[in-house]
Amino acid sequence: MKVPHIVQIEDGSARGLRQDAHEGLLQARAAIAPKFFYNALGSRLFDAITALDAYYLTRTEAAIFAAHGAAMAHAVHAVTGPHPVMVDLGAGNCEKAASLFEVIGPSAYVAVDISVDYLRQSLLALQREHPALDISGVGMDFSQRLVLPAGLPGVGSGPRLMFYPGSSIGNFAPDQALSLLAQMHRAACGGALLIGVDPPKSSRVLQAAYDDELGVTAAFNLNALLNLNALLGADFRVAQWQHVALYNETASRIEMHLQAREDTLVTWPGGQRVFRADERIHTENSYKWSPARFTQLLQEAGFKQVRRWSDPQDAFGVFLAWG
Ligand code: AVJ
Repeated sequence: MKVPHIVQIEDGSARGLRQDAHEGLLQARAAIAPKFFYNALGSRLFDAITALDAYYLTRTEAAIFAAHGAAMAHAVHAVTGPHPVMVDLGAGNCEKAASLFEVIGPSAYVAVDISVDYLRQSLLALQREHPALDISGVGMDFSQRLVLPAGLPGVGSGPRLMFYPGSSIGNFAPDQALSLLAQMHRAACGGALLIGVDPPKSSRVLQAAYDDELGVTAAFNLNALLNLNALLGADFRVAQWQHVALYNETASRIEMHLQAREDTLVTWPGGQRVFRADERIHTENSYKWSPARFTQLLQEAGFKQVRRWSDPQDAFGVFLAWG
């Protein structure tokens, strides 16, 4: 049996992450990027979110892959050949990619995630299921710069299938999303991008998905504070903070915030800040893209061809872009 090849891009991304967090916390309106959700516990809490009835995204996307995976694979193979290198961005538990292995038939699988300890566990289990597949794991913050390290097993310079499911692209503002998609276009080396995108829908459905009754999303959001404590050496006290999710319809995005329940002083090496009661830290945007607007974005990013599959209710969409 082969073993997964795990690479952690400098230990830091850690220094860059600390700098990002420090600057974000000191902005007039404190804001940190959603990548700060994903320590080992955060990755598990996200998995728990995907099991909630109210969180329709993962379930609907899985149904689209089940119904149309063979058609997607056929379209992919026409671009990449029958055995593409598959690059999974924000792979997490790797379940979505693995569900497509049978139809895609990858020659090598590269899983990229910021949460490298969780990724390692996922890949060890995956390798047992696919003993002959070249598997690598890359621990990195690809939102800064999407370039894979050289020398990954089975990864040459040929066309690749880039895979970015789950509507994670929604975490980026339109201008950042455009530059990330342009980097994916380049990283595909003439191959294709398979990407999941959540369209706008009623605020009732969105609100339920991002503020669930069990409080799993609240725990996921609050865990960012524990991650900041570990990463920055900060002294956030979780009990002083509250999860807030709201639909900003004008901007077509769900916003998540952490709101202080009382005045509090937070300190970390090299910084401190007083948060007043009700003051917020903006922790996530989740943009919702209409099919027409996202198609246009893909074209602006350099892709010449676009196809889309969805579920019968059109609650979610999967795009294949190439050329
Ligand atoms: C992983 C970014 C797709 O925006 O729906 C889930 C993260 N945040 N519940 C999303 C998330 C709150 C998720 N993405």
